[in-house]
Amino acid sequence: MRKITKAVFPVAGLGSRFLPATKAQPKEMLPIVDKPLIQYAVEEAVEAGITEMVFITGRNKRAIEDHFDKAYELESELEAAGKEALLDLVRNVIPKNINCIYIRQTAALGLGHAVLCARPVIGDDPFAVLLADDLMDADIGQPSVMAQMARQYEAEGGSIVAVQNVPREFTRQYGIVSGTPYTEHLERVQGIVEKPMPDVAPSTLAVVGRYILSGRIFSYLETQGKGSGGEIQLTDGIAAMLKDFPVYAFRPQATRYDCGSKLGYLKASVALGLKHKETSAEFTEYLQSLK
Ligand code: UTP
Repeated sequence: MRKITKAVFPVAGLGSRFLPATKAQPKEMLPIVDKPLIQYAVEEAVEAGITEMVFITGRNKRAIEDHFDKAYELESELEAAGKEALLDLVRNVIPKNINCIYIRQTAALGLGHAVLCARPVIGDDPFAVLLADDLMDADIGQPSVMAQMARQYEAEGGSIVAVQNVPREFTRQYGIVSGTPYTEHLERVQGIVEKPMPDVAPSTLAVVGRYILSGRIFSYLETQGKGSGGEIQLTDGIAAMLKDFPVYAFRPQATRYDCGSKLGYLKASVALGLKHKETSAEFTEYLQSLK
């Protein structure tokens, strides 16, 4: 059976839309209610059965490594104070069978370049890519978005990008795909272009931060020149690959929050705050009391 066991988390971006909050800490450590964005993404991958987590890090990203590591001092203090519930929380940030691997991207040359940095660990295997600043909140009763995609991969193989319809005026913020119907849940991607202007965008189907990619992508990224914004773009690598190998577009059953933007981050905080068992009741009441 086709199975994905490795995920790449590119976390080496500068996070300039979130300055000054991201001056000394990675944007992936910004919390939504009580968990950092990166933990939501890792949990999503764990639910999809992935066990090898590969983080592409950069400067100022040490907090991510520390977050998934043992916290000796904190644990012994919580233990001494008999705070069992908190101790449990700190110890179980990540299941025991998960391996975390860190690779440094020495310069932020683009998402495509960040993914290429994972090649020594991924080899020829298919792998997932999760951009933690895109927070995916699966619809009620649905598995995590990566688990939804893994299911599609098991059935069809190939490469899969998660997509969502966006208003036409926003096409220049996304990779945009054009596709033809394939199965009930997938479209076969015919073209993909990074950040097209609204008047030339081939559709309004935007790639959101989840991918399952064939290991073949690396040879396309290797020869990929700079694209939009002077960066090596993952979208351009996928565009080159789809001429030779199938790429599918999948619409996840989920709400996506762009937590790399201030507005998206606020929306996610409200949505998840309304759902969280410790805050739900009082937060709902509070929001209702606002004029
Ligand atoms: P973004 O376009 O969101 O860029 O990158 P950014 O630098 O993180 O944020 P802004 O736009 O300056 O506010 C998309 C994803 O690709 C990663 C980022 O960490 C983010 O998850 N990335 C981007 C890298 O890992 N390396 C890069 O060179 C560029």
